[in-house]
Amino acid sequence: MSGPNTDYDPVEVTPLKADQVEEMREAALAAVAAAADLDALKQVRLDHAGDRSPLALANREIGALPPQARKEAGQRVGQARGAINQAIAAREAVLEAEHEERMLVEETVDVSLPTTRRRRGGRHPLTLQSDLIADLFVAMGYEVAEGPVVEAEWLNFDALNLGPDHPARTLQDTFWAEPPEHHIVLRTQTSPVQARTMLTRKPPIYVVCPGRVFRTDEYDATHSPMFHQVEGLVVDEGITMAHLKGTLDHFASQLFGDGITTRFRPSFFPFTEPSAEVDVRCFVCRGTGMDEEGAQSCRTCRGEGWIEWGGCGVVNPRVLIACGVDPDVYSGFAFGMGIDRSFMFRHDLEDLRPLFEGDVRFSSAFGTEI
Ligand code: DAH
Repeated sequence: MSGPNTDYDPVEVTPLKADQVEEMREAALAAVAAAADLDALKQVRLDHAGDRSPLALANREIGALPPQARKEAGQRVGQARGAINQAIAAREAVLEAEHEERMLVEETVDVSLPTTRRRRGGRHPLTLQSDLIADLFVAMGYEVAEGPVVEAEWLNFDALNLGPDHPARTLQDTFWAEPPEHHIVLRTQTSPVQARTMLTRKPPIYVVCPGRVFRTDEYDATHSPMFHQVEGLVVDEGITMAHLKGTLDHFASQLFGDGITTRFRPSFFPFTEPSAEVDVRCFVCRGTGMDEEGAQSCRTCRGEGWIEWGGCGVVNPRVLIACGVDPDVYSGFAFGMGIDRSFMFRHDLEDLRPLFEGDVRFSSAFGTEI
């Protein structure tokens, strides 16, 4: 910067001349007006309003003018710089608004377009429940056995000591395949897998069999003509009811929580003797029958403290004989429960129909996994 110089001829400080300042101002305003976007305007600001712009440099020369000329030159430069700054601010506002508008248009998302993102598939909650049950038994050394859903009448009934006069054999309960003389049914229970297993393997037998079964039930909140059961069968030397009880207690605690045990109520099934109905201790009230505050009946077990779970017993020697197992050497136990029913009370579901209607929103709520 030049130092003060009283002899300096102001006419010679070219950048401070009125027409020069005017020119710089015109050039700046033209550049501002021509700035097509915010980046260009940024450059214009640097070039025409920055520290190294012609007017900023001219401003520095003011000190070199004789005192009487400084005021006028200062005003001239100041006004020009003010006008430029104003023009930049105004242009900036316009460009920003334009930019925003353009972004709104460019970034518009048409939510009605088909998506390329695919929903991940999920396994059905009942499949997960079946697998979980099978896994619990596999962990105890059992094998998973399977049988066909279209089954021979003999295996579904006769081999299991369900004689020809048994009420379950009437047309009311059973889907019969045509023609009737072929004696083919849709299995009404997973128990024929017991017979199939004993006919094809030698003891010791430890099998679990989850699967689909069919009965001519009306479809409503608690019945479906197709549902799922899990069957268990053990045949070995010295097997007693005590082994059965211990196994089911373990099964219950694994499925419903620590300390959840079972109780047996005497019952009758043709394929077991003795037979029992199995109840599982309510895992919500843990057997008290009361809700959390102790004010009302527990919703899950309806105040009973126990929930009906399935049937079980010591395999009837007649079944062992029908399936080629020597009852003098071997004994066994068997049990069967509804998988859908277990799922329903485990998840506080009042209506089983959503389990069969294939709405993925229902399945997702139960945390389906691939
Ligand atoms: N099959 C029986 C039913 O569908 C359930 C059952 C009861 C299975 C006792 C068994 C058993 O293995 O021992 O009702």
